[in-house]
Amino acid sequence: MLRKILIFTVLMLITVPLSGQGTPTDFLSADFHKDRRQAVRQMLPSNSVAVYFANAERNRANDVDYIYHQDPDFYYLTGYKEPNAVLLVFSEDQVDPSGKKYNEMLYVQERDPKAEQWNGKRLGTEGAMKELGFEMAFNGNEFADIPVDFTSFDKVTFFDFKNDYRNKRGDADLFDLIRNFKEKTNYPSDYNATKQQLYSMINSADDENRANVVTTVGRYLDYYDELKDDELLQNFVKTKDDGLLSDIKEKVSLKLEANNLDSNLISEIMSTLRETKSEEEMLLLKKAVEISAVGQNEVMKAMHPNMSETEIQGVHEYVYKKYGAEYEGYPSIVGGGNNGCILHYIENNKTKVGNDLVLMDLGAEYHGYTADVTRTIPANGKFTPEQKQIYDIVYNAQEAGIKASVVGAPFRAPGEASSKVVAEGLMALGIIKNTAEARTYFPHGTSHYLGLDVHDKGTYGPFKANTVITVEPGIYIPEGSDCDKKWWGIAVRIEDDILITDNGPVNLSDMAPRTTEAIEAMMKQPSPLDDFSLPSLD
Ligand code: GLY
Ligand code: MN
Ligand code: MN
Repeated sequence: MLRKILIFTVLMLITVPLSGQGTPTDFLSADFHKDRRQAVRQMLPSNSVAVYFANAERNRANDVDYIYHQDPDFYYLTGYKEPNAVLLVFSEDQVDPSGKKYNEMLYVQERDPKAEQWNGKRLGTEGAMKELGFEMAFNGNEFADIPVDFTSFDKVTFFDFKNDYRNKRGDADLFDLIRNFKEKTNYPSDYNATKQQLYSMINSADDENRANVVTTVGRYLDYYDELKDDELLQNFVKTKDDGLLSDIKEKVSLKLEANNLDSNLISEIMSTLRETKSEEEMLLLKKAVEISAVGQNEVMKAMHPNMSETEIQGVHEYVYKKYGAEYEGYPSIVGGGNNGCILHYIENNKTKVGNDLVLMDLGAEYHGYTADVTRTIPANGKFTPEQKQIYDIVYNAQEAGIKASVVGAPFRAPGEASSKVVAEGLMALGIIKNTAEARTYFPHGTSHYLGLDVHDKGTYGPFKANTVITVEPGIYIPEGSDCDKKWWGIAVRIEDDILITDNGPVNLSDMAPRTTEAIEAMMKQPSPLDDFSLPSLD
């Protein structure tokens, strides 16, 4: 019996850890991705193809790359997490040389035992078919011989290239895939997607919207150096002459007809599709938000004036990893005192936060979906009267912004509502003398879409149900500002993730307290880190 128990115990020791080595299974399903490809197909005009490339690998230093992150559009449509891949979605069935019909193709990294020993398992063509549900998957090196004549389509739509990828070993990396694509599509060496976009706008401009198009083209000309010597754009902005205008339009239309390449449609399609979230996406997005909010609570409990900004970041990071979130959705921002006034402060290297407010903008990414939650708390657990006065303005501004986030409202509605409260509040405290000055202390937008990207894609049209946005007003008063010194170094942002529904806005991150009273109460709670100490390195 004793022997049996011993054998059982040994078996348990072996099998329990092994069975604990499983990987998460709650990713988006193959059916989700397939459905999204079908949605793309339905938005494509006849005789067209949409082409998507995987994200580039990025070098960190020497022979070390940054952790690979798939391009969110590519992930949305495929579920494929590896680099060096290309997806084609056709508007109609195509027929291959053997007579087989298909309406999409995926080219992936080839299996390679040696590479996989160093860098992990590859899905390969078999995995792409079995696990991702593609009917046709090929190795990247077959893309050079793709049996598709790109010039036969009315439209080939693709995101233009940023030219920030490297040619690595072999003939099937992203560099080679793009080179082959360019060759097969007769991609002009001076192709400029922004120019194409402006030409399209000019081409479809009518008397009604001409003034708007002139303003837009003018703005682009001011901003992009590479557009400055384009005579057609320059003349379009200047001319008041109808004859000259129709001449410009004719030339623009000839330019557009010179090839079948297009980088606008794909952008419109992906913004439209990704703006609203399916139930399956919402499960992951809600989980990312919940984990991030719970992480804020743990930081509130653990916070004390001797902590460093990096350490605070580390507490949140530990909590979100404990819950299975893989990464930060964007670099964490932990700014004590005046550091909070730097909007994208990511150095997080102050060694003691002291008695200041600490602004913490922290979002976990769970299986691709990212949260974006900001809390601002007093490191010593108690808001000073000045800190509370500023905080309450931001809180009221956020409440107004959330209330304005309703189906049918214009995208700018929360921003307008929040800005009004901030301006009135700053006036009441004598920090500004007229409402226009509020922009000095609240210099950023109030909302963006949230999803696979922290600044997710969307149309910026009237709000639709099942959209998630942030509402994130802030007031930042850097040292040396033109106001009473007592306000200097106060920076407050409160950011929540809001689901827009037919029944009104739902705050997905409201498990992390927002009022000064609730924050102070949370900070009084014990933390599991209270008794955590490490040996001194001195
Ligand atoms: N964390 C980036 C943002 O709030 O938009
Ligand atoms: Mn945000
Ligand atoms: Mn944020």
